[in-house]
Amino acid sequence: MTLDFSRIPRDRLPALLRAMPKAELHLHIEGSLEPELIFKLAQRNGVALPYASVDALRAAYAFTDLQSFLDIYYAGASVLIKEQDFFDMAWAYFERAAADHVVHAEIFFDPQTHTERGVAMATVIEGLAHACHRAHAEFGISSHLILCFLRHLSEEAAFDTLEQALPYRNHFVGVGLDSSERGHPPENFARVFARCRELGLLTVAHAGEEGPPAYIESALDVLQVKRIDHGVRCMQSTSLVKRLAHERMPLTVCPLSNVKLCVFKTLADHNLPALLDAGLCATINSDDPAYFGGYINENFVQTFAALPTLGARQAWELAMNSFEASFVDEGQRSRWSKKLHEAFIEASIG
Ligand code: HPA
Ligand code: ZN
Repeated sequence: MTLDFSRIPRDRLPALLRAMPKAELHLHIEGSLEPELIFKLAQRNGVALPYASVDALRAAYAFTDLQSFLDIYYAGASVLIKEQDFFDMAWAYFERAAADHVVHAEIFFDPQTHTERGVAMATVIEGLAHACHRAHAEFGISSHLILCFLRHLSEEAAFDTLEQALPYRNHFVGVGLDSSERGHPPENFARVFARCRELGLLTVAHAGEEGPPAYIESALDVLQVKRIDHGVRCMQSTSLVKRLAHERMPLTVCPLSNVKLCVFKTLADHNLPALLDAGLCATINSDDPAYFGGYINENFVQTFAALPTLGARQAWELAMNSFEASFVDEGQRSRWSKKLHEAFIEASIG
């Protein structure tokens, strides 16, 4: 049965966006730590928090830019001490992902946030990997872990982190670059990314969230990334947009994050429609859902509600892009595409 997007009225879009299968490609697992779990783990581990209650912590989530968020995000992660804590955090994410019809998740973790506090690399990776394994068994969700280097720290520290992680090489597929973007260009990590590529690791990097188009270009040229995380500022450079479209270079866009961190004033101002119109392989993701007001389905539903030019055709395109941009084989992609087709047929016959 062929798809006719015009047979899907706007009022059926929210249900379709929620039910359609999708891949999540930009999710920091530490950013899925809900205030309730932060308090529970703080109590379990005897960690003192500078907030009196869950509500007081939530009230502090009023960010003015990336750095104002990162300060609170790193403080929240300080309650993670034992392997069970990392498992519990990731398991809570997978429960939400299953409810949102996520069929595949590629998950960032920030080992330096933990190893700098004396937590062993094994504790972090084994806790997360155990949750990934169980999510596949219980929910049928496949997943990959991506180790992120913190760009506000040195390249030497990144090399150290890589060294510590290599005994667990089978548990992660690639490396990324996150944390404070401005003043920390991708080329600062040229050598460690080159080493990672030699080791067969896939590479991605945050670029063009707060930083200029030149950071996206150096992520491509110097770090040789397979995806750009965020990338929304590419629109400031016509030649870069042309290049990204020509190369089908995926952008993992995070609309609610962008609004919370003041990259765009409101969702109605977001440039996602322009990115898609320019032929870019953009995807929708949740970034740090516990901090930014919603998981992947909330990102989809709120973004489509705010932007009237986004309809069933774009919903299809975004889901297909998420499969295309994922680090899986063609067979898996085509199985997900069939499921997507079924969800759309169901929506078109009401
Ligand atoms: N940008 C950069 N670093 C991050 C983010 C982000 O949105 N979330 C967690 N670490
Ligand atoms: Zn991010």
